[in-house]
Amino acid sequence: MAQDRGRLTGKSCIVTGAGQGIGKAIAARLAAEGASVAVVDINVRTAESVAAEIENAGGIVGAVKCDVADRKSVRAMIRATAKAFGGVDVIFNNAAVAEIRPFMEIRERDWQRIMNVNGLGVLICMQEAVKQMRRQKRKGGKIINTASIAGKEGFDVQPHYCASKSAVISLTQAGARSFAGDGITVNAFCPGVVKTELWEQLDKEFMKYGLFKKPGDAMKAFSARILSGKPSTPEDIVGLAAFLASADSDYITGQSIMVDGGMIMS
Ligand SMILES: NC(=O)c1ccc[n+]([C@@H]2O[C@H](COP(=O)([O-])OP(=O)(O)OC[C@H]3O[C@@H](n4cnc5c(N)ncnc54)[C@H](O)[C@@H]3O)[C@@H](O)[C@H]2O)c1
Repeated sequence: MAQDRGRLTGKSCIVTGAGQGIGKAIAARLAAEGASVAVVDINVRTAESVAAEIENAGGIVGAVKCDVADRKSVRAMIRATAKAFGGVDVIFNNAAVAEIRPFMEIRERDWQRIMNVNGLGVLICMQEAVKQMRRQKRKGGKIINTASIAGKEGFDVQPHYCASKSAVISLTQAGARSFAGDGITVNAFCPGVVKTELWEQLDKEFMKYGLFKKPGDAMKAFSARILSGKPSTPEDIVGLAAFLASADSDYITGQSIMVDGGMIMS
């Protein structure tokens, strides 16, 4: 998808989990298309460094520390963004945690940790963003959630993560129905295998459970089903993300769009 420089001019966008990986690439692309972007992460150091990088490239950005699973923190983050950029037009609920843990090894605390950030965190960010979109003068808004192929198919090596991403798809559908009357669209996108820092962690966990022998083997095995023939980079995702943030997608809501190189057809 070609980059359209002016498409997001004047738009105020939030990207959670933007301190690295997919969120970082989305923040950079939104800024390149003219948006003002709040680079949000629980890790303020990485958020600040991403914001500085984007600013140096000519973007309008701010770094905000926020734990998406903590309502107070989310409220403060949305308030700060609205104050800095005059409102909130778009929020990308992208922050998440993942881990490799076989089905029979999942303890209550593993389930709660994953669901707390990936499920509850998305719910809270959606609710608080809608409150802001409703109280500001500009009408409507866009909520875009990062789901996953793992929300469409259950993988034996991460059942709790898959359940959390199914929750994201359900929240996307329920939100689309709940907020259509406010002129707010709610969509999700589902990446497949994306080369980010996250995979370095997953790689180690695959080896810890003896599921793969050396670094890179897991990604190679998972990528075998990808019709495009290779895993993706965050840059493969950002065209769709910018489209969903723009007026070009105004007639789309409640959808969870695959961006996985044809790994899963759903
Ligand atoms: N990498 C992949 O292969 C892949 C595939 C499908 C879906 N996804 C999804 O894409 C999104 C981004 O993935 P990534 O690969 O860039 O991950 P990543 O681990 O590289 O980055 C995630 C970011 O989220 C932040 N974060 C974690 N918990 C947070 C919290 N409570 N509050 C605020 N920020 C928090 C982290 O600090 C980190 O900067 C996630 O939703 C992930 O589930 C990734």
